Amino acid sequence: WLLPALVLLIGYLLGSIPFGLLLTKATGAGDLRQIGSGNIGATNVLRTGHKGLAAATLLLDLAKGAAAVLIGESLVGGGGAIAGAMAFIGHCYPVWLRFAGGKGVATMMGVVTALYWPAGIVFALVWLAALLGTRWSSVGGMTAAVSAPIAVGAMGRFDLLPVTLALALIVLWRHRANISRLASGTEPKIGASKG
Ligand code: G3P
Repeated sequence: WLLPALVLLIGYLLGSIPFGLLLTKATGAGDLRQIGSGNIGATNVLRTGHKGLAAATLLLDLAKGAAAVLIGESLVGGGGAIAGAMAFIGHCYPVWLRFAGGKGVATMMGVVTALYWPAGIVFALVWLAALLGTRWSSVGGMTAAVSAPIAVGAMGRFDLLPVTLALALIVLWRHRANISRLASGTEPKIGASKG
């Protein structure tokens, strides 16, 4: 039981590293909690005006999800999905931030890509298309998240259906403030200064 417990713990701890918050604090770019949506993700880092930091946040949040899957898989055969799910939970609900973490899109992309890269490609393409098409980051992220269970199902990877479906539902739940802003027409588009 020790190894499976270790997989869960490593996944959670990796995911709980709030890269957006750490990078913006370390570089003096500002306090993400006081900016835009108050979220710790790459979209909100972009609102500080630091594109490089936003890109780094996106990549690191993605990488920690992928790393958790690979570590989980190497420690326990078939443990990648649960390790990735734990990293995603760690990102959304980090103990260090009193469980007030991010919305999970970048970390989910990393998890999905490491679990089954063709579904990761679909995730990235859907995300880009919805983001560029609407210029709403939240719409890009939510659409991509929902596309993941559809993609793994269509590709015959039914073993990945439970984890992708669960993560997609949590992504939607974490975006509930964005959904009400979208409904009331107040969700800012990417490139606008206020969130
Ligand atoms: O992944 C987060 C993004 O979809 C929305 O971020 O800061 O606009 O709430 P934000």
